[in-house]
Amino acid sequence: MAVTGIERTNNQQLLTWVEQMATLAKPDDVYWCDGSKEEYDRLCQQMVEAGTLIPLNQKKRPNSFLARSDPDDVARVEHRTYVCSKDKIDAGPTNNWVDPVEMKETMVDLFDGTMRGRTMYVIPFSMGPLGSHIAHIGVQLTDSPYVAMSMRVMTRMGEAALDVLGDGDFVPCMHSVGAPLADGEADVPWPCNDTKYIVQYPEERAIWSYGSGYGGNALLGKKCFSLRIASVMARDEGWLAEHMLILGLESPEGEKTYVAAAFPSACGKTNLAMLVPPEGFDGWKVRTVGDDIAWIKPGDDGRLYAINPEAGYFGVVPGTNYSSNPNAMKMMERDTIFTNVALTDDGDVWWEGMDGEVPDHLIDWKGNDWAPGSSELAAHPNARFTCATSQCPSADPAWDDPAGVPISAFIFGGRLSHTFPLVYQSFDWEHGVYMAATMGSEATAAAVNQAAIRRDPMAMLPFCGYNMADYWRHWLRLGKGLAHPPKIFRVNWFRKDKKGKFIWPGFGENMRVLNWIVDRANGEVDAAESPFGHMPRHQDLNWRGLDFHVDDFSGIMDIDRARGLEEAEAQTELFESFEDRLPPEMETQRQALKDRLTKSSDQWKVAS
Ligand code: OXD
Ligand code: MN
Repeated sequence: MAVTGIERTNNQQLLTWVEQMATLAKPDDVYWCDGSKEEYDRLCQQMVEAGTLIPLNQKKRPNSFLARSDPDDVARVEHRTYVCSKDKIDAGPTNNWVDPVEMKETMVDLFDGTMRGRTMYVIPFSMGPLGSHIAHIGVQLTDSPYVAMSMRVMTRMGEAALDVLGDGDFVPCMHSVGAPLADGEADVPWPCNDTKYIVQYPEERAIWSYGSGYGGNALLGKKCFSLRIASVMARDEGWLAEHMLILGLESPEGEKTYVAAAFPSACGKTNLAMLVPPEGFDGWKVRTVGDDIAWIKPGDDGRLYAINPEAGYFGVVPGTNYSSNPNAMKMMERDTIFTNVALTDDGDVWWEGMDGEVPDHLIDWKGNDWAPGSSELAAHPNARFTCATSQCPSADPAWDDPAGVPISAFIFGGRLSHTFPLVYQSFDWEHGVYMAATMGSEATAAAVNQAAIRRDPMAMLPFCGYNMADYWRHWLRLGKGLAHPPKIFRVNWFRKDKKGKFIWPGFGENMRVLNWIVDRANGEVDAAESPFGHMPRHQDLNWRGLDFHVDDFSGIMDIDRARGLEEAEAQTELFESFEDRLPPEMETQRQALKDRLTKSSDQWKVAS
């Protein structure tokens, strides 16, 4: 087995692990990635020759490629994702669990010889700015060049990460697409396996992923490390690993306030992170630190400081256009990997919801001819772009700052057509944790007012690497120990009127809500007190440039007592599933909400 690449480390633990894993997986050779541009270009060229990447029109989309995955390997596989803690109760009722010893046996069987006929790439990477006290090092082993190349975009990868590692500890991330090649067997453009396992060992702080080459299943720095394993590290070490975007709001006077916001997948986090302020906000700027994950640590001054552990975006493309997210559109004008979008006749990309006319002819994401009117989608709904943060026009100057940025507010939101107002603020930290713990989205947007809420506490349901009730306890404890905890808010952009139409315009107009949140966090505006929390009155929001009538505002701010009480009742199902692990504060808060609602009017209205 030839070993090539940098291998410039004396880290014995790393060398031993790489050797053991190579002995198990039996690749033809082992290559240590240096993270250079030359290496990236070489991998891309190799994948073009193998048919994995299609180079796009160099004039229209310079240095960009299209990949088409196997049609059965298109998204994260939550039902195949496991948290293998020693005790089942430590994984909690929201995670799949298998005994770690049993799962290790399954993994060793699957990985035995899994890389035959392939190269094993050794990928040292830093999650977070190199050398930041909030960052951590991981090393991924993979037999997928697509993963190796994507990791260079999504993380700080290669030689520099090895230098930071020195002889320290790292999170081992073992990955295989599960498609060994027999002697002389031809490869396919997107090798993968029908059997898939995404396995986290929280006590060991290790990850094994098998069978998929796609996104969060395969780029192990993202969900597996930065959320599932890091949430466990954060619990043990007194910090937070969250499924949150981070943005900075800069006033015309140059005052900057950073907020972090959690929304379930597919609620527009990337759009909010890159928001362009609407009319009426001259001189305001929204700056992006991250769109998906935040690692947050208490600072000596009693505030929380956040970094984005990632160095790139892996964003959903369908629905993205120059109105919904102009910054994302500009970012992907060059140096971008597209996966599962459609190909135009002139070698560019297309997806549903893109600006302009629908082309007369396309090659769809499966590689077939496509024409308007086809019953198939041209791009897969989970088609993605992979692109470096440095290309984002709204990137915050501090996006790579090892010290992180101070967080003044946490925002939690879901997709809810009724009951929940546009925005409200918690009475205190404990109430805020309860608000975040009970968040969720309606399972289907089809039937107004009917769908049940799929609870997604802190948007961490698929990502918390331990018992969710212990995670709430950790949040409660951490906030109470802070001299200056961030203020906590809930938002809901998705409330509908009686005809089933969205009341709030959303997108850039969400700036009006962000502005109020930041003013509240900085103690600059008063608020009304509702049964749910503190709320803005109509006159508290900046309406310049938007004709939004006070009655419409009422339509998204009112609290229907009966609905509110139903919601408080519905939360018991979530709470009861945690049995005696549930922190008592959660039930205290639920009762307090019920009391406030019982004392309020049938239809609570914010006075103007
Ligand atoms: C993502 C997700 O891909 O949350 O970021 O599903
Ligand atoms: Mn996400």
